[in-house]
Amino acid sequence: MAKSNPSVLTPPARSRTRWPISSIVDAAGLAPCYHQQVDRSNGYEAVANEFLAGRGSRARTVGIGVKEVRKWAKTLPRGCSVIDLGCGPGIPITAVLVEEGLQVFGLDASPSFVAAFQRNLPGTPIACESVLDSRFFDRTFDALLAWGLIFLLKAEEQHRLIQRFAQVLAPGGRLLITSPAKPAVWNDAMTGLESTSLGATQYKELLAAVGLSIVEEYEDEGENHYFDGVKQK
Ligand SMILES: C[S@@+](CC[C@H](N)C(=O)[O-])C[C@H]1O[C@@H](n2cnc3c(N)ncnc32)[C@H](O)[C@@H]1O
Repeated sequence: MAKSNPSVLTPPARSRTRWPISSIVDAAGLAPCYHQQVDRSNGYEAVANEFLAGRGSRARTVGIGVKEVRKWAKTLPRGCSVIDLGCGPGIPITAVLVEEGLQVFGLDASPSFVAAFQRNLPGTPIACESVLDSRFFDRTFDALLAWGLIFLLKAEEQHRLIQRFAQVLAPGGRLLITSPAKPAVWNDAMTGLESTSLGATQYKELLAAVGLSIVEEYEDEGENHYFDGVKQK
């Protein structure tokens, strides 16, 4: 019998490589995306179970923002493409877009939310990426929604994201984002992490600088402030 090679009994040196903790292929069959053990979701991955049991549960399909998003969605041509940035598990907000007959794409940096999204809205494309370095499905969209997202980012990151809004929207494309109208810094109720609203005046200036005009502003019963805008043709 051949003598066994002693090297096989030696445990390998501990690797410094960060292995992906999960790998999800988006529902459109686009490139696989790998998640590293670095949180890109601004703390939401850590509170995903709590979120899924509350706002993200099927029992709460009439959540805050549903009425406003449905009204907005009804103003879009049926079948037009819309990307929901920071879509979470797809309930309650993205589901409204799907119900209104739009061609919906989701994007969220939390692997747990992406998995829940795939269960909740099977067949709707979703990418598990940060909005800060996403390729946004390598296409443009007729409309863009970012509900409860932009203020989770640092001020400089918000500036960059607003520039990306303009790049991913088609001419005449529509935009709906939420953030408090007054400039403010606070700790997010779920994650405890710092949130920053640049305020309506600065948001409108930054959006205007990249060709996005706000045509209407309103608030919902949860005091979320909506910026409803359009990209110049
Ligand atoms: C307040 S929750 C809102 C979720 C959903 N839009 C809703 O209305 O229920 C914020 C969401 O943004 C996601 N998020 C935070 N930072 C992100 C980033 N840099 N890129 C993509 N998604 C992010 C979180 O994972 C979370 O799903």
